[in-house]
Amino acid sequence: MKPYFRTLLFLTLCSFITPSLLSANDLLQNSYLRKGMSLNGRWHYIVDVYETGYFNYRMEPHDGSENPGSSAYFLNKKPKNKTDRVEYDFDTAPTMLVPGDWNSQKEKLFYYEGTVWYKKSFNIEYFNSSKRYYIHFGAVNYRADVYLNGEKLGVHKGGFTPFNFEMTHLLKEKDNFIIVKVDNKRAADEVPTLSTDWWNYGGITRDVTVYELGNTFIEDYKIQLDKSNNKYVTGYVQLNGSTKASKRVTIEIPELKLQKQVTTDTNGYAKVSFPIKKVTYWSDKNPKLYEVKISTVEDQVVDNIGFRTIETKGTNILLNGKKVFLKGISIHEENVIRGGRAWSIEDARVLLGWAKELGCNYVRLAHYPHNENMIRLADQMGILVWEEIPVYWTIQWTNPETYKKAETQLKELIHRDKNRASAIIWSMANETPTSNERLVFLTNLAKTARKLDDTRLISAALEDHGRKDNKNIMIVEDEFAQVVDILSFNQYYGWYGGTVENIKNIRWEIDINKPVIISEFGAGALQGYHADKMTRWSEEFQELLYEETLPTLAKIPGISGMTPWTLVDFRSPRRMLIPYQNGWNRKGLISETGNKKKAFYTLQKFYKNVKQK
Ligand code: GCU
Repeated sequence: MKPYFRTLLFLTLCSFITPSLLSANDLLQNSYLRKGMSLNGRWHYIVDVYETGYFNYRMEPHDGSENPGSSAYFLNKKPKNKTDRVEYDFDTAPTMLVPGDWNSQKEKLFYYEGTVWYKKSFNIEYFNSSKRYYIHFGAVNYRADVYLNGEKLGVHKGGFTPFNFEMTHLLKEKDNFIIVKVDNKRAADEVPTLSTDWWNYGGITRDVTVYELGNTFIEDYKIQLDKSNNKYVTGYVQLNGSTKASKRVTIEIPELKLQKQVTTDTNGYAKVSFPIKKVTYWSDKNPKLYEVKISTVEDQVVDNIGFRTIETKGTNILLNGKKVFLKGISIHEENVIRGGRAWSIEDARVLLGWAKELGCNYVRLAHYPHNENMIRLADQMGILVWEEIPVYWTIQWTNPETYKKAETQLKELIHRDKNRASAIIWSMANETPTSNERLVFLTNLAKTARKLDDTRLISAALEDHGRKDNKNIMIVEDEFAQVVDILSFNQYYGWYGGTVENIKNIRWEIDINKPVIISEFGAGALQGYHADKMTRWSEEFQELLYEETLPTLAKIPGISGMTPWTLVDFRSPRRMLIPYQNGWNRKGLISETGNKKKAFYTLQKFYKNVKQK
């Protein structure tokens, strides 16, 4: 059976598996611009290699038991008198900064994979017992068990997406303590799985914020241009609270003198749809953002939203109906100068500033959702963005629990960024081995993404290989190519296989009428190591590979963009070659000391000469 019909059969089969479409439950929309109380700063921590704070010596969990043992760390116990035995004490324990991974903050934790407990005490100024209180985490890698004043608020898994818990029922005016058990151990059935090519930074890696909300508040909304009519805004508003039904909600865009009122249904939900005439569309050349106010009698949220359309037509990507070439670069979430996971607006300015300097109008945020500062800054800078969940390499395709984890991360990503004009592509995966099970897994993810948001494009970083009868002809044999909107693949000819001298003889045979993005290519070079062009690891070798690859890729029919691998060298336990790697993947165009390599200027020059039609 021809691959296309086989895919069709699979898509029919998949249609019987309706992925659950509940969005991330009560995840606050636009926490970024809401006023909250930050819990960023120094938290006490206890390294707990044997999870003594969670299990007793018979490996029975203290958590949830009637009488948790004396070492239940989440109780934050203190000795009653000088004889009493309590074998932990957060208040005499050292501290570390939140947000921040532990690997880059504590040398003894550089390679650590396991559990670390965090504790922070706080008061609520102007505590109001008629209000509701949430605690929101930008992300914790990988599993977070969260407790307030000794009681469990909940658990979250997934190292790169936001989550929050209501804590109204446990919060006091004074002397609250939040305790978080963070466990970053890798596991075969998780997402990502055991093997990745990046550092497994553990910890509370993004902002922690307390929000005070009304009894009924604006939990979620989507306000975007209609997919097929750029003169119309469509979306929805979702309220949360006991009086959410039949509630009047006002949506305003003051600059356009637009005001629309809707009334929620019994579930606190209201569709939004209104004409928008004199709008200036958001684009990479003119990243116009409008202040959008959403209000009820009890709550108001203000967001900055760009209005644009993104679609494909044959082999073209159209931004507001005009063909666009995506001059991109791949980026890992790392502040290599300071060390560790990037998380702040300053980190985002450094990374996206380098991308702009390169001449980019597009970035691939690999291989997992980056912190919200990146996408918010991309909105302001006019940088188009590919966002991705870490369905990376050898995921457990036949494990329903693994699918749910991947789908939850996808839903949390879409929930957070669905109002961001710069987000144009949701990527389902990276370099995953083809199989029927993997096709069903990824097809279901794509279905979920399209149901949650039909305004953006779906892709995934696939792989190419040489045709059996002619190694100079490269092809992509992957049935998921029938499902995506944009055909993207990683190609490393000249680095992993093939020779640099032969790159100019390579051609790609693409028999699909879709835009093509080269989601990765590149070579490793130790910045400052200079030799002849054929010496691997030299800047000259990396420069030659770019000089040979760029014009060859430009010949691909339907080429609509590229994100060479990668902007900056990044830490990886897979890259231990002394003296060139020393625990770093060296395919960056910039070193971990912020120095540009020669290939940076090769790509910069190529982008300068790309003519946007
Ligand atoms: C792969 C993978 C990257 C990895 C890169 C490399 O394509 O997608 O995550 O870092 O190759 O080998 O450097």
